[in-house]
Amino acid sequence: MTLEEKIGQMNQYTGFFDVTGPAPADGEAKKKYDHIKSGKVGSMLNVRGAEQVQKMQKLAVENSRLGIPIIFALDVIHGHKTIFPIPLAEAASWDLEAIEKGARVAAIEAAAQGLNWTFAPMVDISRDARWGRVMEGAGEDTYLGSKIAAARVMGFQGDDLSANNTIIACAKHFAGYGFAESGKEYNTADVGTSTLHNVILPLFKAAKDAGVRTFMNSFNELNGIPATGDRYLQRVILKGEWNFDGFVVSDWDSIIEMIQHGHAADGKHAAELAANAGCDMDMEAHLYIKHLKDLVKSGKVKESDIDDAARRILRVKYELGLFDDPYRYCDETREKELIYADAHKAAALDMAKKSIVLLKNEKNILPLAKSGQKIALIGPLADDKDSPLGNWRLAADGNNAITVLEGMNTYKENTINHQIGVKLLSNEKTRFIYELEINTTDKSDMDEAVAAAKVADVVVMVLGEHGFQSGEGRSRAELDLPGLQQELLEKCFAANSNMVLVLNNGRPLAIPWAAKNVPAIIEAWQLGMESGNAIAQVLYGDYNPSGKLPMTFPRDVNQVPIYYNYKNTGRPDPNGMVFWSHYTDQTNDPLYPFGHGLSYTTFKYDNLHTIVNGRKVVVSVSVTNTGKVDGEEVVQLYIRDKVASVTRPIKELKGFKKINLAAGKSQTVLFTLTEKELGFFNNQGKFIVESGDFDVMVGGSSATSLDNTFTIK
Ligand code: BGC
Repeated sequence: MTLEEKIGQMNQYTGFFDVTGPAPADGEAKKKYDHIKSGKVGSMLNVRGAEQVQKMQKLAVENSRLGIPIIFALDVIHGHKTIFPIPLAEAASWDLEAIEKGARVAAIEAAAQGLNWTFAPMVDISRDARWGRVMEGAGEDTYLGSKIAAARVMGFQGDDLSANNTIIACAKHFAGYGFAESGKEYNTADVGTSTLHNVILPLFKAAKDAGVRTFMNSFNELNGIPATGDRYLQRVILKGEWNFDGFVVSDWDSIIEMIQHGHAADGKHAAELAANAGCDMDMEAHLYIKHLKDLVKSGKVKESDIDDAARRILRVKYELGLFDDPYRYCDETREKELIYADAHKAAALDMAKKSIVLLKNEKNILPLAKSGQKIALIGPLADDKDSPLGNWRLAADGNNAITVLEGMNTYKENTINHQIGVKLLSNEKTRFIYELEINTTDKSDMDEAVAAAKVADVVVMVLGEHGFQSGEGRSRAELDLPGLQQELLEKCFAANSNMVLVLNNGRPLAIPWAAKNVPAIIEAWQLGMESGNAIAQVLYGDYNPSGKLPMTFPRDVNQVPIYYNYKNTGRPDPNGMVFWSHYTDQTNDPLYPFGHGLSYTTFKYDNLHTIVNGRKVVVSVSVTNTGKVDGEEVVQLYIRDKVASVTRPIKELKGFKKINLAAGKSQTVLFTLTEKELGFFNNQGKFIVESGDFDVMVGGSSATSLDNTFTIK
């Protein structure tokens, strides 16, 4: 290969629709076509459809000197055409098998549309619900997030990358993007060594260990260096210590953005920094194709590094089987057969039900009686067919989710009076523009909603965020119910307090009034196409909810960042004086803790025992279903390393098991802790296990009080 051809492999352009970043200028299209024909493009993103992909692949394969096929990429985040719950919601299922299956279905549909590569999973930890991209991750916890990262990678990639129904995955954003200061999108991340190694990096390592073939670096700077130009992250850790032999793609324009960061003087310098740092592919900044040849000629970038990058990219193309048949993913008959297959819809419904979290259920208001009830169904999201699809659903047809009204209407023996209460603003025009999507001024629909509430047996409110109120570029400074919804809620409640609140949202919300007053609250996120069916089945008790929060819900936005695995500080407890770690105007505890989630039955935990054998600890606990119905429970195990050379959190999740228990039955649940769970990374980034005492806590949420201790010698 010539130097130019090798650099061509390192160049990725966006196609001409589904633009997911600042759009390319007009006239770019012709240049891109010419570049494809002359072998200067290794990958395209945002091109999809068997026919479209085939056409573009032909340009490369039939015109360029070496005929090297292109890899086609898209953000396939939670389903492709059949839309699944947003990733944060899926994480609430704690069901690794279902999550893997969701990614599998997405891969099958994406591959049937000619795609080879998804920019997922996003494995960024975040402790800040203001950050819009929390919807795309697995929440705040490293252990849960690592398991989910691996499940998603395996789901997308399957066990044969060359099969025509698997796609390569991408662990992103490497690294620290979720620690954007003040939750503001693209903001600076300043993270200590301990947090980097113990909280952020393990998820990427888990993705690598599960075989992920690509990584994406990140828009943010981390400790003063833009991640895209960070040699330590990409060359030392990823390609060095972890021995990763796939390739790294930049984020959209993140190479050129190093100029704005104040790290690169100009485009050429930015290309030099990124290439030397180990970023193998340039997404849409057009800088590698412009400058790398000169940079090699002038000795600023080594040709051996270009060889290495090209080799990595070509290796993955071989693994995908593109050299055997560049059109293997482009079969329009398969495409028609597989998109929206019944089995895919069934998997989406299953996942949606498992993602629902019952936050509160007083007076056993839920499940609802199936007949003889007059129900007032109120809220701007109760019959919106688009919002449940959430953000990051590029291939979705839109407006095709089952709504709560539609789902509830399948239970025919109750009557439903549906009232919008507060109007939605048109979401089409706001897709790429920042503005609130739920009405803030127009109260004209409120009175009718309140009147409906007054005469109903039970009121079901469907409130929250519109599907495009979270996601990239959608950080919020408030975590309340947007627009006029809080006012609507309080007015309807004053009219009739026999109320269930169904939340649709892409992030934890601070809803202290609702938590205090409304007797039942269901967290239903944005659940994808089957949203309304899943919610109705939970409301009517045909599905017993088992989801658990993957992220803490604050009482107040000002508690953020708030997370369960915090450090103790030197003054953790009230001491009769003001000098302890607290606020004077708010409590320390969250509204709903990490791991919280109720069921229509109850579970009792007891007999917590530990057996230590060297550096292996077996923990057993008995769990009993003490209620009247069968149910599933996520049994969670937390530990605390009481004294350590680098302080450890007050508790850390180190195991969980989802069990199904018939009413009245008990089960002994066993966990094994090994060095992997007992150790941590010290401030030199070295993994160590220290002897000493540990607390172990087991229960149905991070707030469990059942505990025991053990000692590691
Ligand atoms: C996002 C990435 C995404 C890329 C391509 C960027 O704006 O940060 O996560 O994969 O666009 O769409």
